[in-house]
Amino acid sequence: MDNRAIGVFDSGLGGLTAVRRMHEIMPNETIIYFGDTGRVPYGTRGRDTIIKYTRQDVKFLLGHDLKAILVACNTVSAVALDLVNAEVPVPMFGVVEPAAERAVRTTKNGKIGVIGTAATIRSGVYERRLHKADPAFEVSAQVCPLFVPLVENGRVKRGDVVIETVVREYLTPLRDKGVDTLILGCTHYPLLREVIGDFMGDGVTLIDSGAIAAETLKTAVNPAEGPGGTRYFVSDDPTSFAQLASLFLQEDVADQAGLVEISAY
Ligand code: DGL
Repeated sequence: MDNRAIGVFDSGLGGLTAVRRMHEIMPNETIIYFGDTGRVPYGTRGRDTIIKYTRQDVKFLLGHDLKAILVACNTVSAVALDLVNAEVPVPMFGVVEPAAERAVRTTKNGKIGVIGTAATIRSGVYERRLHKADPAFEVSAQVCPLFVPLVENGRVKRGDVVIETVVREYLTPLRDKGVDTLILGCTHYPLLREVIGDFMGDGVTLIDSGAIAAETLKTAVNPAEGPGGTRYFVSDDPTSFAQLASLFLQEDVADQAGLVEISAY
């Protein structure tokens, strides 16, 4: 048993899709969440900036008594995790490895789609991991740069013509290729599950990287005894946090998030 907290972070609110799953399957854990809402998005930035931001996020989290860190961001997992993991005293878990592993176990026709930020797709991390499992897999990767800003603005619902148009534009090539498994390689994207699912059709399984990473984390950490609870921190505008966060978490967030001056770390 280990009652120390688990640190979770993302560039913004996307990592809350992992926290949502943690609340379901690890209710006894104390979670410290940091969303870098002042500097989102990370996915359009270069490697050095993503590494610098990751080091600062991790340093903030390590100010708490932690037993592990979940990097609930594909961009950071793809670009900075290996490097920063080697520098810190607690184990860090990413979202890419568990999502890729689940896709390998899910696909029947060997055609796997991956969608993500520019940094994640450019890193080629998913293709490498999938082809390591089976070089015959046909992997189709697609950058979806408008998804994160639309999600952070709450434009996620069926019938919203803006998000439906963008989904059609990005996902038509993947649908045409006949993928039967689609990795949502950004923790913001599960909020678009309905719209993406409607477009791709019932025959395509959507892989939620944040939720699956939470399941892997559960098997890897020494569990807490409880009572559990989550504290939220952001780097900008804590007042609007509760409203958007409840959309991601599908539960009410009563407490205002703490404001962190992250550039000072
Ligand atoms: N949620 C993040 C991810 O999983 C990235 C969003 C962004 O900051 O671009 O990649």
